[in-house]
Amino acid sequence: MSSDTKNTIYRDALRELDAVLEGVDDPVTAMATCACILHQRLSYASWTGFYRVVAPRLLRVGPYQGPLGCLEIPFDRGVCGAAARERAPQVVPDVHAFPGHIACDEAARSEIVIPVFAPDGELVAVLDVDSHQPSSFDEDDREGLERIAERLRPCMASLSGR
Ligand code: SME
Repeated sequence: MSSDTKNTIYRDALRELDAVLEGVDDPVTAMATCACILHQRLSYASWTGFYRVVAPRLLRVGPYQGPLGCLEIPFDRGVCGAAARERAPQVVPDVHAFPGHIACDEAARSEIVIPVFAPDGELVAVLDVDSHQPSSFDEDDREGLERIAERLRPCMASLSGR
């Protein structure tokens, strides 16, 4: 998919999210709406959703679209754990080459995970998108999803794992 096409998808997704979430500050509503909008728009996404920080070093599944996800992921495991631990995006072109990757879905081949922060800068969740094709995600996805996560930030004040 061309860079222009991806940028258009993320621009439109952000516009839709912005319109739908106007006046909303409920984190579950925000995450569920975001997972739906992205999953509908990203043709290469096989799983789209959130893992919430529920203890100092533990993620638990939140709203998502796609096949059954693992329920809990410690910070020291998987791509989601790496994003949470490093508080930094992870773009993984080949999940089989990623040490500790957790295969919730055997067919997953590539993955991107973006940290989601509350207004005070606390890490409250990660946004995970998986694909059945290798190398689905690149810098355009990282930028687009980071903008989406930034739009969610004001909704995340009451979602605290501490
Ligand atoms: N593959 C992820 C686990 C979550 S699922 O893909 C939904 C990981 O390695 O963190």
